[in-house]
Amino acid sequence: MKAGDRGVRADRGEIRVVPDANALARAAADLFVEVTTEAVMDREHAYVALSGGTTPRQMGQLLREPEHRERVPWDCLDLFWGDERWVPESSPESNAGVARRTFLDAVPVPASAIHPFPTDSEDPAKAAKTYERTLRQVVGGDGIPRFDLVLLGMGDDGHTASLFPGTAALHEHEALALANHVSKFDSWRLTLTVPVINAARTVAFLIGGSGKAATLAAVLEGGRQPYQLPSQLIEPVEGRLLWLIDRDAAADLQSAGNSSGG
Ligand code: 6PG
Repeated sequence: MKAGDRGVRADRGEIRVVPDANALARAAADLFVEVTTEAVMDREHAYVALSGGTTPRQMGQLLREPEHRERVPWDCLDLFWGDERWVPESSPESNAGVARRTFLDAVPVPASAIHPFPTDSEDPAKAAKTYERTLRQVVGGDGIPRFDLVLLGMGDDGHTASLFPGTAALHEHEALALANHVSKFDSWRLTLTVPVINAARTVAFLIGGSGKAATLAAVLEGGRQPYQLPSQLIEPVEGRLLWLIDRDAAADLQSAGNSSGG
């Protein structure tokens, strides 16, 4: 696929290819502004789940700058995370800690509107249950709480959030948040589950780099094997699925009628 192919509908959502990592960050920051302002206009509030890993950091650096910062309705937002490592926020591994240090400490979002997973609690299972309670209390609504935007990354093994291949969380259909033991890291993760991600109004993957190209092609164009490629489990029930990807990550995609790659 060529950079610049915009809004190509694949059977697994809308694919937008941008030239590089900077453009990916900008597209994500623009989406953050678009979705939050629209949600506030329509429903006076916006609920967002941030993703972890390294890809979204550049988005955060843009959101703290006036061009984007001044267009986000920070006082009408509640921010959650799609997943978290079982580490203190002070750890460089902490998704919430990195987000605070990257941009949240520099924007006027009320402290009470920032909802990290409670990794200082007794144990991962209790932390997940507490998170689910917070999610239900803050986002509210009947049934499954509905995010306006869930941002996701994808690992080169096809995982998303902390929904890793072969792990118990892939099969969870009731709980909204779960402690998930990931044997490849021999560590606990906390993650939102598939039902709450798929209840969102907009789910956007941010994927960059040639290291993801083969897996992304398998996820988007290969056979359906969601327990080996958990990103395939993400199919919003009544929402929009967006794949924001840079040219390197799109290199192996054949969709959009472009077989020249590039
Ligand atoms: C995490 C994430 C995880 C991440 C992917 C991609 O806690 O690591 O939530 O799902 O989004 O592993 O990570 P990169 O952006 O670092 O490639």
